[in-house]
Amino acid sequence: MRNDPAATPSTIYRKDYIAPSYLVDTVEMGFDLDPVSTRVATRIVMRRNPASLAKGIVLLGEELELVTLRLNGKRLKPAQYLLDGGMLRIPLAPAKVILEIETLTQPEKNTSLMGLYVSNGNFFTQCEAEGFRKITYFPDRPDVMAKYTVMLRADRKKYPVLLSNGNLIEKGDLGDGRHYAKWEDPFKKPSYLFALVAGKLVCQQEKYMLKSGRKVLLQVWVEKGNLDKTQHAMDSLKNSIRWDEERFGLELDLDRFMIVAVGDFNMGAMENKGLNIFNTKFVLANPELATDVDYANIEAVVGHEYFHNWTGNRVTCRDWFQLSLKEGLTVFRDQEFSADMVGTDSGRAVKRIDDVRVLRQAQFPEDAGPMAHSVRPDAYVEINNFYTVTIYEKGAEVVRMYQTLLGRDGFRKGMDLYFKRHDGQAVACDDFRAAMVDANGRDLSQFERWYSQAGTPKLQVTTHYDALKKTYDVTMVQSCQTTPGQKKKLPFHIPVAVGLLDQHGFDMPLRLKSEAINPAQDPALGITRVLELTKAKQTFRFIDVAEKPVPSILRNFSAPVVMDIDYTDAELAFLLAHDSDPFNRWEAGQRLATRSLIVLTNAAKNVIGTADGTARKTAMTAAMNSAVSNSAALAEAFRIILFDGTLDAAFQELAVTLPSESVLAEQSDVIDPQAIHAARHYLRSKLAHVLNEDLWVVYYANETPGDYSPDALAAGKRALKNVALSYLMDGDDADSHILAQHQYDGATNMTDRFAALVALTNSSAPGKADALSQFYADFAKEPLVIDKWFALQGMARTSDVAAVRQLMQHPAFTLNNPNRARSLIFSFCNNNPANFHAADGSGYTFWADQVIALDNVNPQVAARLARALDRWRKYGSGLQDQMRSALQRVAATPDLSKDVQEVITKALAY
Ligand code: TRP
Ligand code: ZN
Repeated sequence: MRNDPAATPSTIYRKDYIAPSYLVDTVEMGFDLDPVSTRVATRIVMRRNPASLAKGIVLLGEELELVTLRLNGKRLKPAQYLLDGGMLRIPLAPAKVILEIETLTQPEKNTSLMGLYVSNGNFFTQCEAEGFRKITYFPDRPDVMAKYTVMLRADRKKYPVLLSNGNLIEKGDLGDGRHYAKWEDPFKKPSYLFALVAGKLVCQQEKYMLKSGRKVLLQVWVEKGNLDKTQHAMDSLKNSIRWDEERFGLELDLDRFMIVAVGDFNMGAMENKGLNIFNTKFVLANPELATDVDYANIEAVVGHEYFHNWTGNRVTCRDWFQLSLKEGLTVFRDQEFSADMVGTDSGRAVKRIDDVRVLRQAQFPEDAGPMAHSVRPDAYVEINNFYTVTIYEKGAEVVRMYQTLLGRDGFRKGMDLYFKRHDGQAVACDDFRAAMVDANGRDLSQFERWYSQAGTPKLQVTTHYDALKKTYDVTMVQSCQTTPGQKKKLPFHIPVAVGLLDQHGFDMPLRLKSEAINPAQDPALGITRVLELTKAKQTFRFIDVAEKPVPSILRNFSAPVVMDIDYTDAELAFLLAHDSDPFNRWEAGQRLATRSLIVLTNAAKNVIGTADGTARKTAMTAAMNSAVSNSAALAEAFRIILFDGTLDAAFQELAVTLPSESVLAEQSDVIDPQAIHAARHYLRSKLAHVLNEDLWVVYYANETPGDYSPDALAAGKRALKNVALSYLMDGDDADSHILAQHQYDGATNMTDRFAALVALTNSSAPGKADALSQFYADFAKEPLVIDKWFALQGMARTSDVAAVRQLMQHPAFTLNNPNRARSLIFSFCNNNPANFHAADGSGYTFWADQVIALDNVNPQVAARLARALDRWRKYGSGLQDQMRSALQRVAATPDLSKDVQEVITKALAY
């Protein structure tokens, strides 16, 4: 099924926003649920919008059969309205209107998973962003907010459970084997937050007392066999409710809050009012089936959707260009929630590092490619393509910068004012900024550029110590590369958190030249200063600096920028050992590792292509051996980290993890995926060799016997133990093979079992094929585990295109389920760069085949895959030519969705 067949996609511009011509007060809907054809009767009470000059009613609808249309009780004749593509216009209408619309949809045929669809025999809806128009004709735009009453009718046996938003106000029997349920949502909402669920489901439920003493009903709905996997989601929901009360003073506004899990879903989850619908991946967990990372993701996503109840639902977006208003803010809130759940300072730092890794891995490349867009974009073709890491993760960084600039209390004041002003409204990013400004009396006009300018700013930092005057100058120069449609960039308002370390590694007292008081007498001023860079070039002078410091710049990653600073290897090792800011401690190690990896990549580059086969291998080893002296310091630094008893295991694990291949790729001028892979693998084996005994010690020191718990401490230990295992396995000797096999066989939880399986699969261990087939047999009935099984093979060092095509023939593989398609195809195209970018271009042919095939099933998912070639201009000319041909082949395919067309057109134009 298509979103928008054939038509040349047109661009929607932010500047063209106009208020809706009619406002809607109430919506009553009746559904006769039938998988083949569902009848939807809708009664809309509307009135002319005094704020609009436009006349006439505009309704949107897609893939609908219009049965009847009545205006104020009178059936409209075809001459009285215009039905044109996705738009139904009634040019002449009175000021007050009651519209009655009957439409038919075909849920079973709906593979796009937008609108009303069937998954495993049950009904679900997905309306964000523009799915409601696949259910009925409606002014389907977020600035039209209304109260909804929904009547669901269906066969009682097949669909015993009938859910929609808000409160259940009536239910009963219809006599003919069918039953009904009537739901009323007391809050005004935009159509994208509408939802219904119907089918054979069961729930875990609990009464929960709010801080105010009010009791609410919490439910987690799943298929019958999954009731043993809902406890963690329920716990996460309760924690989210408590956290939002405590941190932001925000209370759950409903008497009933439901989460429903569905196996076929385009994204992570959806915040429909009172009826959150989740990808099973972000609900279901028990120790045998879910990893520590799954547990953490469930907590984060449950939190995210719950927090939307205020940031998104009570205050929503005026138009989809403002999407980051709710998404960036809600990601920031879920990040803070996860950090607070860990509690300790180092736990918070681990969460921060994880979040920055995602930003660098995914958002920086997006910001440097054909799809680069600002946090509040100016134009789009298909809004589904703008649910991006820029809107979400960079948007969260922008929100975080307010908190860094205003302090926690100032930020909270801004939030309070935001809700006071805008509760029940659909607003814009500028309204959020205005609330922050007005609550704090600050000028943040330049800060607006974070919303309007795309691209990752670059920060060049130089320092100068004057031993006579005891001054220390920090000079910063900012710049930003051009992005599509934006040639000229103006300076950003960048908060740069700075600390200075003395020769023993202690924080020095800080005093800026502009500061009157001596911070040595005022400890409140602390050891970190947030410098506000607003010009293209600016120098900040610290005074009374007793000795030449080692600077710690951009602490806690205080702004989403790339920072360039001239550290020596010794300074980096010093920072890694001493910085009181854990983020910068980790960062120093990453910088040190990146240096080794760049030298090694260049060595590998020179060898690849000059020799073949064994000759190449020997030459490579020789070249790398000569380059490897750089990594001796790294091994030593890692050893210190591994045995620093003051550090959390989770932090140690992050500190000894090398930058990923895609982060390294982003730092190359011309990406050579095979060289990067060879270099990284080589360095890992080298470290495994040099640190061999240490890794064994770390492995045994971090076992977690006894009952499984997903808490941060235990999860950190498992992560550290398993990173030790993966290093040892890169040494690829018999002892480590035995260790991995032993861990696999004896594992009592999925974290350890899966880590062992990954390690085996990427090694030459004799038992690896058996382990893979055993794993499949053991978990064949658990779709989420089978997704892991496909994903791990998609990413394996040994999986080339042929192997992946072979796996697609497996009976358990299907393109129709997004999780399954992502597990194998996306993991190969996005996370197996050395094989995907095979010199013969076979990876690109595979990619084009799958984009085209997926587009016939689910355009949204296809468009995500299409983005795997975003960075094609950054590769050598040989690979570039082949990527261009693959892009052109997709572009030339008839009847592409506008989702895929937009991505491919932009890539080719880049
Ligand atoms: N608003 C959802 C979230 O932030 C995102 C989402 C879920 C979505 N499903 C979607 C967006 C389908 C577009 C299409 O969690
Ligand atoms: Zn969201």
